[in-house]
Amino acid sequence: MRLVLLGAPGAGKGTQAVVISEKLDIPHISTGDIFRSHIRSGTELGLKAKQYIDEGKLVPDELTIEIVKNRIAQDDCCRGFILDGFPRTIPQADYLEEALGELGKELDCVLNLHVPDEEIIRRLSGRRVCPHCGASYHILYKPTKTEGVCDVCGNKTVQRDDDREETVLKRLNAYHEQTEPLIRYYEKKGKLVTVVGRERVEDTSAAVLQALGVK
Ligand code: AP5
Ligand code: MG
Repeated sequence: MRLVLLGAPGAGKGTQAVVISEKLDIPHISTGDIFRSHIRSGTELGLKAKQYIDEGKLVPDELTIEIVKNRIAQDDCCRGFILDGFPRTIPQADYLEEALGELGKELDCVLNLHVPDEEIIRRLSGRRVCPHCGASYHILYKPTKTEGVCDVCGNKTVQRDDDREETVLKRLNAYHEQTEPLIRYYEKKGKLVTVVGRERVEDTSAAVLQALGVK
């Protein structure tokens, strides 16, 4: 299955992508995670992307498209993939359609996780992540078994730099201005399925799998 997860920052794209990826055994590709890994390694791409991410802005399309182009060309994507956080602009969506079209392929589904803005702010202020393995938690909704320690690898969990409230508000703005128009874009193409992501994590996962027709 070739799937796109669309949704505001903090809507639960990453959380649900992990569940779908395990269930369908297809790779989970998060452009945000790829940028953060470049930032940690201090690459040129990481340095460029960091300026935008810290400001709560989108990274320019040319840089983002380049990393997706390289990633979806890898062998593990031949049976499908989950794109989490890409596309986020109309030019990115046009690129994806064209790139898949050249391979004689197309997206199967665009899953839109809808969560209201006030809930987003609650979620992102309580999110903690493991910088080592990338696992994501919430201090109230999805706590680690031991406070501040990753359940998966035992490293210390931290708050993401861009989860400070002033940056979250900028990210939400960028979402409404640049990404939300993709809802209509994919609706017109008959690819959009919307799931309200307000319920508990497990209940949202059940609704997501049902919407995708996965048992
Ligand atoms: P990215 O890392 O993609 O950030 P984002 O879209 O802002 O989304 P998040 O990762 O913050 O949220 P999520 O939807 O994955 O939610 P999560 O599952 O963690 O991108 C970061 C930056 O990189 C961007 O700002 C941009 O600068 C740049 N970038 C990336 N892609 C780009 C692109 N295509 N073009 C240009 N720039 C790009 O959940 C959030 C929290 O809520 C967690 O604590 C979780 O435990 C909790 N939670 C999840 N579900 C539930 C639930 N149902 N109930 C209660 N709590 C829940
Ligand atoms: Mg994420």
